[in-house]
Amino acid sequence: MTAPIPLTLVEPVPVDRRQRALTDLRISVVDRCNFRCPYCLPEDQYPEHHQFLDRQARLSFEEIERLARAFAGLGVRKIRLTGGEPLLRRELPLLVRWLARVPGIDDIALTTNGTLLPRLAGELRDAGLGRITLSLDSLDPTIYRQLSGNRGEIGEALAAIAAAEAAGFAALKINCVVMRGINDDGVLDLVAHFRGTPHVLRFIEYMDVGTLNGWQRDRVVPTAELVARIDARWPLEPVSRAARHDVAERYRFVDGGGEIGFVSSVSSPFCGDCTRARLSADGKLYTCLFASEGHDLRALLRTGADDATLAAAIAAHWRERDDRYSERRAELRAAGNEARVEMFAIGG
Ligand code: GTP
Ligand code: 5AD
Ligand code: SF4
Ligand code: SF4
Repeated sequence: MTAPIPLTLVEPVPVDRRQRALTDLRISVVDRCNFRCPYCLPEDQYPEHHQFLDRQARLSFEEIERLARAFAGLGVRKIRLTGGEPLLRRELPLLVRWLARVPGIDDIALTTNGTLLPRLAGELRDAGLGRITLSLDSLDPTIYRQLSGNRGEIGEALAAIAAAEAAGFAALKINCVVMRGINDDGVLDLVAHFRGTPHVLRFIEYMDVGTLNGWQRDRVVPTAELVARIDARWPLEPVSRAARHDVAERYRFVDGGGEIGFVSSVSSPFCGDCTRARLSADGKLYTCLFASEGHDLRALLRTGADDATLAAAIAAHWRERDDRYSERRAELRAAGNEARVEMFAIGG
């Protein structure tokens, strides 16, 4: 590990062409996954000879930590670890420990399908992980299994929640991607299950990320429809967003049953406040979830760039950023603009 450097801003804090600052970094640590969710990495769709990244191609922990320092020096305060399935990356708690020491980083979170949490939750907590988001699309065993591409069991997801609680993660975020005709019937069951717990359930509109999930707009269940369905059973009232750049619209149950969220990237895009950068496991910087190209930071790292050069390169890419895919979805899809990075390569 490199010696700690004080938090000095080596560059003026960059803003992009739409005046958006860079405050969040989402780091994909591995592109493999033990699930094959149809909305992300469908078993029968990804190219037969698809090669996941080998060890050499992936950034090492030392490289990730150096980049995290560079991002922190440019104003990033929050890191989310993603995959594929991030817990498949060996020794992940060690990386968390290193990242937790990076000056300026005050929030480290993880998005996981949970299968490996019973083994790792305690170590992750000790290492300094602050928050966990768990993907859980249905409580129905058959539908859960179907939405994991026949790889996961609902019992494992519930065990993951218990393990996280036991390790001291008091309030999880539970992400459910809703697909019409597949799991939307189970929405009220999920609400009933998580109401009254500290965990915050979030319903996510099915998105056209990547090129493999065969996205059809009529499978999207718009947030307004879900809010109406839930409100009819348990009245809801809106809560203002905790921070302007948060992705979820928040509601609380009028009867005190807690909070619930909705991520409405299709029906109500939030690009105007998007302060998120994404780093793929092979070190490419993506400035949008729907980008077709990333900027190769690994090449810079491996050709001996010093910290100032790294920071200047990242800042330059951010300054030229003009992305707002979700706001332009209809127009870009009509234009046949189909090249997009896959979700499992940058982790949502
Ligand atoms: P924190 O703010 O760190 O708590 O996390 P979050 O609210 O960003 O949550 P999370 O990372 O779980 O995001 C939830 C889901 O929203 C992701 O899995 C994506 O499906 C979607 N999402 C997150 N960020 C973006 C984004 O920048 N653009 C779009 N279109 N969707 C996003
Ligand atoms: N649409 C919406 N969200 C998606 N995710 C993956 N694929 C999609 C998609 N097509 C999100 C889910 C999952 C996380 C890892 O990525 O929230 O929990
Ligand atoms: Fe794996 Fe998450 Fe993609 Fe499902 S959504 S295939 S769990 S990376
Ligand atoms: Fe940000 Fe791109 Fe998502 Fe818009 S579509 S919120 S620019 S990541």
